[in-house]
Amino acid sequence: MITCKSPREIELMRHAGCVVDEVFKTLKAMLVPGVTTKELDDKALEVITSRDCIASSKGYYGYPGAICISVNDTLIHGIPSDKIILREGDIVSLDVVVSYQGYHADATRTYPVGIISERAQRLIDVTRESFYEALKVIRPGAHVGDISEVIQKYNESHGYSLTREYTGHGIGKSMHEDPSVPNVGKAGSGPILMEGMTIAIEPMVNEGKSATRVLPDGWTVKTRDGKLSCHYENTVLVTKDGYDILTIQTEEDK
Ligand code: MF3
Ligand code: CO
Repeated sequence: MITCKSPREIELMRHAGCVVDEVFKTLKAMLVPGVTTKELDDKALEVITSRDCIASSKGYYGYPGAICISVNDTLIHGIPSDKIILREGDIVSLDVVVSYQGYHADATRTYPVGIISERAQRLIDVTRESFYEALKVIRPGAHVGDISEVIQKYNESHGYSLTREYTGHGIGKSMHEDPSVPNVGKAGSGPILMEGMTIAIEPMVNEGKSATRVLPDGWTVKTRDGKLSCHYENTVLVTKDGYDILTIQTEEDK
């Protein structure tokens, strides 16, 4: 069931989104060679709880971390660990879901650790750009497939591939709600967007082939070919004449 949110619900989600943003700012400053993903996760939890919020991912179907931290060829759902030590040249995605008074906000950023290859930087740039290209089609009356097609075309035109198995999603009282927002699809297909809908749009983009595998831990999703993967996500509100991003406050945080 797709729900439209009231102004009060939207404000609670926006508040959760501010805290997500604060987590990014805090963790970004810690991304130096030698830091473990467990240390980053601990800090994220500290920020989230200090703001009277809940780290929504913790305990979600038994997920052990406060956030997901996915390095290099890990697409999504990397479990924070004191054995995963960041090194110069890595790219690391931080996927943060926070709830405030029962309402969730979800966003992901992929950051460089130290100096990274041009190849890796291009993947980060294109992934982010595809999100902003997709935003341009959002307004009441547009279809979910309009978003999917833009994300697919933009990334594929740069030689990248998109995973089929994982998608964006509606969000609100639950972390995952209808509709599903795939990263591949056809314009004019899928549910119609309405004012007050809140959706997490999240391109997951692979440098190589789209095939993935899940590690025996049951969570960590990696590319099968071992090539890099990148993820960018925001929680977006459909407004009367377009959209509003609930997980970004200022232009330079994009
Ligand atoms: N943040 C992810 C998403 O974008 C979901 C996290 S799964 C969890 O949908 F188990 F870690 F919570
Ligand atoms: Co999401």
